[in-house]
Amino acid sequence: MLASGEGTNVQALMDERLPVVVVGSDRPLARALERAHAAGVRTVVNRDLARWGEVLAPFQPDVVVLAGFMRLLPGDFVLSHPCINVHPSLLPAFPGLRAPEQALAYGVKLTGCTVHYVDTGVDTGPIILQAAVPVRADDTPDSLHARIQVEEHRLLPEAVRLHLAGRLRRNGRHVEVI
Ligand code: GAR
Repeated sequence: MLASGEGTNVQALMDERLPVVVVGSDRPLARALERAHAAGVRTVVNRDLARWGEVLAPFQPDVVVLAGFMRLLPGDFVLSHPCINVHPSLLPAFPGLRAPEQALAYGVKLTGCTVHYVDTGVDTGPIILQAAVPVRADDTPDSLHARIQVEEHRLLPEAVRLHLAGRLRRNGRHVEVI
């Protein structure tokens, strides 16, 4: 898994007993790394985006899960490794940074989260699972994000489990659960 921040999604996968072989980060102080340490999972820090392929190679991951990894991986990496990303909006709405803030500014009544395969674009890959979250009139970006994260912590482990079980069939932009 790759994570840049708090690591609540890393925690969710570990809590669900998914086989997390390593947690990598571009930020040495990321809380995600502490969480991995506490769970006895190996960690690596690497700031050079072009080197993730060689850094992760010894771990031979079946899938690279991006859980709040805030950098864009090089095209050759995402084309040669299956990667799954979690994003805090109903894509294709509000890609990129600060999605809950974008949703509030736009005035949508419903947002949510998306788990998708990664392609060479920004949050553009084939969608695996989505969950909707209603926006409340008194929401702040933080309160909305907190409710979206409840859904992320359910959806991301489910998608990774389906992928590892060979139950996701990709056909162009479409992902079917079999
Ligand atoms: C998550 O909400 C994830 O969807 C988001 O960062 C957060 C990381 O939380 N990712 C993006 O915005 C990517 N564009 P976490 O560190 O607690 O898992």
